[in-house]
Amino acid sequence: MPEMHSSLPQAIAIAGPAASGKSTLGKLLADELGYLFFDTGVMYRAVTWAALQRGLPIEDEAAVTRLAEEIVIDIQPPSNPDGRNYDILVDGRDVTWDIRSAEVEKYVSPVSVYPGVRQALTLQQRRIGLRGKVVMVGRDIGTVVLPEAELKIYLVASAEERARRRYQEVFARDGSASYEAILTTIRQRDQIDSTRAVAPLRPAADAVILDTDRMDVQQVLEAVRSLVKKANPRTG
Ligand code: CDP
Repeated sequence: MPEMHSSLPQAIAIAGPAASGKSTLGKLLADELGYLFFDTGVMYRAVTWAALQRGLPIEDEAAVTRLAEEIVIDIQPPSNPDGRNYDILVDGRDVTWDIRSAEVEKYVSPVSVYPGVRQALTLQQRRIGLRGKVVMVGRDIGTVVLPEAELKIYLVASAEERARRRYQEVFARDGSASYEAILTTIRQRDQIDSTRAVAPLRPAADAVILDTDRMDVQQVLEAVRSLVKKANPRTG
């Protein structure tokens, strides 16, 4: 069959641990294909930010779950050329940078353990993913949110390399960032994300695993481009 635009995979799932390069890759790939880029991590971050802002104790599972069911999280095209990929709104308020704070980073994995929080957010993510033409990024996209994605990528890199990447990113906004503190948080989040009972971080059985330790962004993108060409779209 000749290669046609319609033979592209409708949904591409990118998963992997903290700071493995999922968002950078996902955004570039989505722009190239003209697909929607959907970073599901922002939803868990938004719930965490809202809980902290309201002074809810993070260990109060019932209250945090109710919050996840109630707040309106919106993702809009970027309104500001300050390096953002999109605007994140929580009940109408712009929290795009607030959800990247060290405090949110510290509590987001404990919040993401709560099954009720996951259920509320997964439902919305799946509804958007099923519309197709989407690059979806997160921990559990290929395994839980969108198992029908025709192409599943799982990015890995050592904790040290990931901490180095995140440090460079955070340092640009906050000169007091500490590499050691970032490495510690990344290790803690890896541990919580991969051992939780519901939707733990792990590659889907049919995911392509890419070790990016010695690859730069362009090399990863190139590898994924050839996987996109080879992927079989769902039929029917
Ligand atoms: O960019 P980074 O990998 O550091 O974080 P993120 O993708 O924004 O995700 C933040 C946190 O949300 C993760 O550590 C997970 O605890 C949680 N998360 C999740 O449980 N499931 C997803 N699909 C996405 C994020």
